[in-house]
Amino acid sequence: MIKLSPSILAADFSRLGEEIKSLEKEKVPYLHVDVMDGHFVPNISVGTPVVECIRKFTDMILDVHLMIENPEKFIGVFAEAGADIINVHFEASENISNTIKLIKSYNKKAAVTLKPKTPFSCVKDILPEIDMLLIMCVEPGFGGQELIESSYKKIKEAYNFIESNQLKTDIEVDGGINFENIGKIIECGANVIVAGTSVFGAENISLAVEKFNCIFNEYEVKK
Ligand code: DX5
Ligand code: ZN
Repeated sequence: MIKLSPSILAADFSRLGEEIKSLEKEKVPYLHVDVMDGHFVPNISVGTPVVECIRKFTDMILDVHLMIENPEKFIGVFAEAGADIINVHFEASENISNTIKLIKSYNKKAAVTLKPKTPFSCVKDILPEIDMLLIMCVEPGFGGQELIESSYKKIKEAYNFIESNQLKTDIEVDGGINFENIGKIIECGANVIVAGTSVFGAENISLAVEKFNCIFNEYEVKK
């Protein structure tokens, strides 16, 4: 099943609860929370207090994307704050296998993220250990950027590898996803779709979600 994971980075934080309610009404399964530390990426966003508040407010699956250095130091606090999926960057972790084990020790889903310039081959060996691979389609740090063309090839490479090794790893994509490129992204094999600007930046959030769901259904039928 193809799932939508709207990124709150593009939300109106003064109306975050209302906007999350609109997503719940449309039965959106995931909510993507971008955590930035100003070191791993040149920007700062939100941290554990926001995750805690959202956790109390909704049962949506919280998909937390840690764009931070030394992520292993913060797995515990994000797990306790209520994250369901914890995404760590391959580039940020000194020992990625240990970090994955740490996430799992909190009974959370483990995901590993690749920046656009990090080749897929770096994660081949750890794929059986993780629940999801997150392929960044823009340089992490900011919403509203344009998708980098080479992302399609990387998604396809990951999909082919996962299929031929009979793995169950989800492929999540993040950055620059819109109604023009979503078809091609799904065709390449992605099944968890992060969308910030395309959902929260839309004039009507519910209509944007419905539009994504319509496209997802079309592709599910074709499979
Ligand atoms: C970028 C973040 C993304 C971002 C996506 O570093 O990881 O999740 O919010 O925003 P859009 O969909 O606007 O590119
Ligand atoms: Zn993200």
